[in-house]
Amino acid sequence: MESLELLDHHAPVALRGEAVYAPPRRVSEAWLAPWWKGLGRRYGHVFHSMCSYMGSFPPGLPRYLIEQFTEPGDVVVDPFSGRGTAPLEACLAGRHGVGVDLNPLAATLTAVKLDPPTLDETLVRLAELERTYRPEPVGERAPPEIRMLFEETVTLPQILHMKAALDPTDRTDRFLLASLAGILHGNHTRDVVSSRCLSVSMPNTFSMSPGYLARYIRDNGLVRPPFDAFEKLRLRMHFEFAEGVPGLRGRAVHGDARRLSQIVEPGSAKLVVTSPPYLNVVRYGKFNWIRLWLLGESVSDVDRSLRVEATDRRLALSDRMRFKSYCGFLRNVLAECSAVLHDDGVCAVTIGDVRNKEHGDRTLALEAWDEIKADVGLELGATIVDDVNELGKVSKIWGIGHRGEATKVDRVLLLHKPGRGLPKPRWSDPAALIEAIAASPSAPIERRPNVRPGVVRTRVPAAARKTA
Ligand SMILES: C[S@@+](CC[C@H](N)C(=O)[O-])C[C@H]1O[C@@H](n2cnc3c(N)ncnc32)[C@H](O)[C@@H]1O
Repeated sequence: MESLELLDHHAPVALRGEAVYAPPRRVSEAWLAPWWKGLGRRYGHVFHSMCSYMGSFPPGLPRYLIEQFTEPGDVVVDPFSGRGTAPLEACLAGRHGVGVDLNPLAATLTAVKLDPPTLDETLVRLAELERTYRPEPVGERAPPEIRMLFEETVTLPQILHMKAALDPTDRTDRFLLASLAGILHGNHTRDVVSSRCLSVSMPNTFSMSPGYLARYIRDNGLVRPPFDAFEKLRLRMHFEFAEGVPGLRGRAVHGDARRLSQIVEPGSAKLVVTSPPYLNVVRYGKFNWIRLWLLGESVSDVDRSLRVEATDRRLALSDRMRFKSYCGFLRNVLAECSAVLHDDGVCAVTIGDVRNKEHGDRTLALEAWDEIKADVGLELGATIVDDVNELGKVSKIWGIGHRGEATKVDRVLLLHKPGRGLPKPRWSDPAALIEAIAASPSAPIERRPNVRPGVVRTRVPAAARKTA
């Protein structure tokens, strides 16, 4: 414990350089590095890729912290669960995963992964949907911006039938709906027929605006192939269940992180692991308008409810105002996280640095922490600094206004209750932990005694390896 408290978490901060995290000064601190990168980009249960979601965790990040700070059976909470990465990893590791998100798409994606049906249940339901399907003209049943994306004699009538018939409160139906959302749009394969998705060829990650898409379809002469939606969904089901389902069920809540203590029992969480929304960078509603249409949700309602503060957007565009309202939001949320945290728990908050026109590069996590630390009932134990692949940053995908706002550095603040210190990590040899996770991504990992750093057999970050 003492060694952790001695850590200088302000130590080397390289925003654009090679060094991307504060090199631990002692072997005992070697675990304070982004070891999950050693798992590689392909690590993760197949459920994670059911439907892409912007700004999601690499699954290894929450898994690393879950293994370090919790025991099987503990409660792990993510108040901004997005596609459900952290609570799913918790359930896969034999912990109780709880995910909360205010975006109905995110809440649905989290729910289906934490409480999935069986493959047979999905196939039986799909067969029933197919049996009750009668091809009908699309007519007024879909708006023009949806009609331009899907073939209108086979694909769209089938999608409309499933949209109308699937009940989002039913476990099996919800799973089919979430999977359908995942294959709704995406790029075509070279041979087109084996494409995974149902739309014209377009990105899978996000929905471009209807106006942009209309021009893009026209200018590039894109075609709408008559994909069989039932068949593609059936194939997807076989794929989704190929790795089995988590042994433990979790809990997903469509709710507000600012009211976390009304959703999760106070004092119950051994780990809160989360990444709050950026400074209004991602409009989760607007950028998911096609999937929200499928779920019958209103894009403007979603974006209104997710806005950090109900102020005029033009006001919020000033950097000072945005930072101030962001800190107010974070203050609320972290006070709620503190309330649900066990006395010996850890609250791990990942925040990316921003590159800002007025002030240049900003270490948002540490600046915001300085602003709010007196009010949230938590103390900073240590920070893990993680460079992220710049190309993967969602804010770079979006229009001119936001381009370049994210930098290459994410910081994971490891917070604990006042006076408690960070608990000792379960694995003093992070390389051995990474090996164990890689060997058993979907089954609970048995606790292994802390061992001395040994030979690293899996791919681990070069920078981290030097310190071990
Ligand atoms: C950076 S994303 C988190 C992604 C997540 N870590 C994952 O792996 O998918 C932030 C999330 O915060 C959600 N959100 C924004 N404001 C919220 C609020 N007040 N309460 C709960 N969720 C909120 C957004 O809908 C979005 O899903």
